[in-house]
Amino acid sequence: MHPRNTSLIALLSISSLAHALNVSLPTSPPDSSKPLVSTLLAFSLEQDRWPDWAGTDAPNPFTRNALGNYARLTGTPPKIRVGANSEDHTVFSPTVTINENSFPPPNTVTPYPEATSVVVGDGYYQLSRFMLPGTQMTWGLDLGLNNVTNAVNMAKSIIKAFRTPAVRRSGVTLESVELGNEPDLYRNNGLRPSNWSVSDYVTNWEALAGPVAAAAQLSKSGVSFLGASFAGQGFTPTQIFNLGILDSDGGKTISTISQHRYSAAFCNGGDFPLISFMNKANVRGNLTVFNADIAATQQHGLRYIFGETGSIACHGAPGVSNTAGAALWVIDYTLQAATLGITEMFFHEGIGFKYNFFQPISLDRSIIDGSALNPPQPAQVQPSYYAGIVINTLIGRTGNAQIVELSVPDDNVSGYAAFEHGRLVRAVFVNLHAWLVSSTGERPSVHIDLDFAGGRMGRRATARRLVIGHADDTKGLTFAGQSFETSDASPRGRLATEFVDTAKGLDLSATEAVLISF
Ligand SMILES: *[C@@H]1O[C@H](CO)[C@@H](O)[C@H](O)[C@H]1NC(C)=O
Ligand SMILES: *[C@@H]1O[C@H](CO)[C@@H](O)[C@H](O)[C@H]1NC(C)=O
Ligand SMILES: *[C@@H]1O[C@H](CO)[C@@H](O)[C@H](O)[C@H]1NC(C)=O
Ligand SMILES: *[C@@H]1O[C@H](CO)[C@@H](O)[C@H](O)[C@H]1NC(C)=O
Ligand SMILES: *[C@@H]1O[C@H](CO)[C@@H](O)[C@H](O)[C@H]1NC(C)=O
Repeated sequence: MHPRNTSLIALLSISSLAHALNVSLPTSPPDSSKPLVSTLLAFSLEQDRWPDWAGTDAPNPFTRNALGNYARLTGTPPKIRVGANSEDHTVFSPTVTINENSFPPPNTVTPYPEATSVVVGDGYYQLSRFMLPGTQMTWGLDLGLNNVTNAVNMAKSIIKAFRTPAVRRSGVTLESVELGNEPDLYRNNGLRPSNWSVSDYVTNWEALAGPVAAAAQLSKSGVSFLGASFAGQGFTPTQIFNLGILDSDGGKTISTISQHRYSAAFCNGGDFPLISFMNKANVRGNLTVFNADIAATQQHGLRYIFGETGSIACHGAPGVSNTAGAALWVIDYTLQAATLGITEMFFHEGIGFKYNFFQPISLDRSIIDGSALNPPQPAQVQPSYYAGIVINTLIGRTGNAQIVELSVPDDNVSGYAAFEHGRLVRAVFVNLHAWLVSSTGERPSVHIDLDFAGGRMGRRATARRLVIGHADDTKGLTFAGQSFETSDASPRGRLATEFVDTAKGLDLSATEAVLISF
């Protein structure tokens, strides 16, 4: 028999064995569809090592290429927030050129600890010019120190930076400022007394935010305040609205409520099963807890975002956050968030953090256990980087796509459809069934039958697959045949798309995602 026929028969028999799933796809956007904004995938950068991300004398080429791949897919670079934990340990000094940091010693749980003190000067904020043209930024201001002069000095230096000719020419703009990172934790981390309440917070925030808003000429429709930035639900948007924050001088300029979310925490180490992340119910459980907050925020005409998020707090956990399985988690988590009305997801990144989408500089310590790396590991993308490529391919370049979740009758398989100009254009399916290095036997797969509801669709579609060896792999992924694991984050390999006969559907392996373009 001709070898080609053998493989065809093998293929047919695999697909007939695969568990068949009948999925109905609406051909036009249902009423329940939500905006799929160009900047859904965004990044939060730990403030202490911002110059490493941006570059100091010239742009960091790795950062620009890695973000440029994303920008080409949607037509807009990802938004960048600079802040987080070190935001509340930052002071402005007129005599510092860029920044001066003090770091605690590393250890095996935290190989790349955050700076305990960051002193910044005007040059620090002016590095914003090294972001890609069109980037919208949010900068953090220190509330932890509770010093209005310092907060105003920071805000003035930020505004001044965005008025310099170099930053103006770069096409990078300031969208908002954030006053305080995770203030609901101040009563736990020593920045405030243990009896510090949400009403103390609102009073305290207003006392600094008013002078900042005046000095920086903030406005709700111009450069605005990002509000809340809570770590959990110890304080909630509803509480601060009821306490009148939106009527204060600073609060009148809040355009967006930011919530932070991690599904677990590695602050003291621990052992987290990857399969608990590759789980539809857990992904949904970590997001739907915010439904009431989202509704309350939208009732006030404000946007709701996750201004900082990731798999596992305190920089991620080894064997989970840095794996290919986490990339599938990122796809499902981000798209699920979009269907709930969370318009942007800022994934947190720091130099040497385990959950990064990419490491923008070379590292001389292991991100897993802090052991010395000789030679150093070059700048590189990590598995979650591919999730961003899949997400931004689904979003496309129109700037006004819509998304809906598809009902997929399998606990491990999620699906989403994207619409442009009133019609179905693309869909993504994610098979979260964990295929691990330790798995044995035949790799399971499902067969997806596409049933179009509400109109006819062509027989021909194309598919791009996110191919993964094992869920616990930390490298070797490809999307549509291309690898981004290159020295400069440029894709390597020819783009390989597959033909899909929409009347026959397609197979999807355990631990794989596929993007279909109709
Ligand atoms: C798939 O479901 C639709 C209704 O949602 C039904 O009309 C169709 O017959 C089903 N197809 C199969 C192969 O079960
Ligand atoms: C507040 O910050 C200003 C400017 O950095 C500084 O001069 C002043 O000493 C600070 N005040 C307190 C009470 O620390
Ligand atoms: C909170 O604790 C501080 C001491 O840390 C105390 O001075 C203050 O009165 C307490 N406030 C309330 C409302 O109990
Ligand atoms: C969030 O995800 C984690 C990790 O998968 C899981 O352990 C936890 O139960 C989830 N939380 C909720 C509220 O669903
Ligand atoms: C879902 O995936 C898990 C492993 O991640 C597996 O144990 C389970 O059997 C799968 N369920 C179905 C319905 O395939």
